[in-house]
Amino acid sequence: MKNALIVASLLISSVSMAAPKAQWVTVDAEVFAKVQTKLGKSYKSLHKGNGAIAMQLTAKEVEVLSETIHDELHRCGGFMGHESYDEAVQAINMQGETHFAKHAKFDNYTIENQSIVAPMVAQVNELSIRQMIEKLTNFHTRHYKSESGVKSSEFIRDTWADLSKHRSDVTVELVKHKNWPQASIVMTIEGSEFPNDIVIIGGHADSIVSGMFGGGSPSSRSPGADDNASGIATITETIRIAMENGFKPKKTVQFMGYAAEEVGLLGSKDIATSYKKEGKSVVGVIQFDMTLNKGTRDMDIVMMSDFTNKAQNEFLGRLIDEYVKVPWGYSKCGYGCSDHASWTSNGYPASMPFESTMGDINGKIHTVNDTLATAGGDASHSAKFAKLALAFIVELGN
Ligand code: BES
Ligand code: ZN
Repeated sequence: MKNALIVASLLISSVSMAAPKAQWVTVDAEVFAKVQTKLGKSYKSLHKGNGAIAMQLTAKEVEVLSETIHDELHRCGGFMGHESYDEAVQAINMQGETHFAKHAKFDNYTIENQSIVAPMVAQVNELSIRQMIEKLTNFHTRHYKSESGVKSSEFIRDTWADLSKHRSDVTVELVKHKNWPQASIVMTIEGSEFPNDIVIIGGHADSIVSGMFGGGSPSSRSPGADDNASGIATITETIRIAMENGFKPKKTVQFMGYAAEEVGLLGSKDIATSYKKEGKSVVGVIQFDMTLNKGTRDMDIVMMSDFTNKAQNEFLGRLIDEYVKVPWGYSKCGYGCSDHASWTSNGYPASMPFESTMGDINGKIHTVNDTLATAGGDASHSAKFAKLALAFIVELGN
């Protein structure tokens, strides 16, 4: 709560420095109604969309608004400052209505579960991540159209189901897709207080090889150790520790292994668009795609800044400082390079913490040589990402 207020007030003060008189804010419907009654005027909404409204206020009015939201609506955030009308409109268009979902207000990201997170983070085990990577790379290929690609998704489902077999509030399912045989995998821990708010940790389950000789074909050997057995193994380790510690989140937490990412983010697109269509409230998404190869010397976790949510990226940075304690920074894909983009384009806040900067990328991906051996030989780099995932599901899930 406190952190969110500080963020909100920093936001306002930076806006007022740039534009001392008029301030642009975006608010949700509940806050907009409050503004009308509180400020005693009839305010025009200047732009509306995705459940948000852009309006212009004076610095004093912003102050009143901030206090009102906190004291009377008992929320942090619920509005956002912008430098200009254009920026406010852009924010509305980009963000999507899920930012205004009941328990996912702007900047409502706090870190307050140290006593739960720290012991879980300490249990992350390099060997168990490495062994999962080895099992996944033992499938000849995880190509979305191959027989072994189908089998590998069933194996992930079985592994996650086994880790959660003692829990009646947990389900593990294969999500079938219409146009290809490989299923996605979805594990759900039902939230105890806010089951309709969903936190998602995902990564793609498929692999591919590109190139001239049988490249991209369903029968070519494609170990995909770094891309992306490592992401699935990172998620599996997160699940293992969550289950062994009896983790019962207030919000619903889902773990996803997406089919057919390598051919255009197809599995995640299917899932994210149907979530949007059904009006599901997804409060945060993390994508783990490549966590094995430490390519950048002075940065361990690199957040992709494009096709991701800025406020959530900053929250992840704070989680790394608090719990993972490794150097982190930013880089860019330059395009929608993985499944986080499917969530972003459906209006949900998504992030992609990545193994290196784009400049230091693992040159072996999409080849027969994307193996554990060529990516450093052990899973110690991936372990940092599992720690971050644990911090995220506990802090955001509660
Ligand atoms: N893991 C890669 C994405 C990636 C590669 C991120 C290098 C950062 C650095 C992913 O599996 C992939 O290959 N994505 C496709 C794009 C997709 C839309 C088919 C790609 O990058 O070509
Ligand atoms: Zn990938």
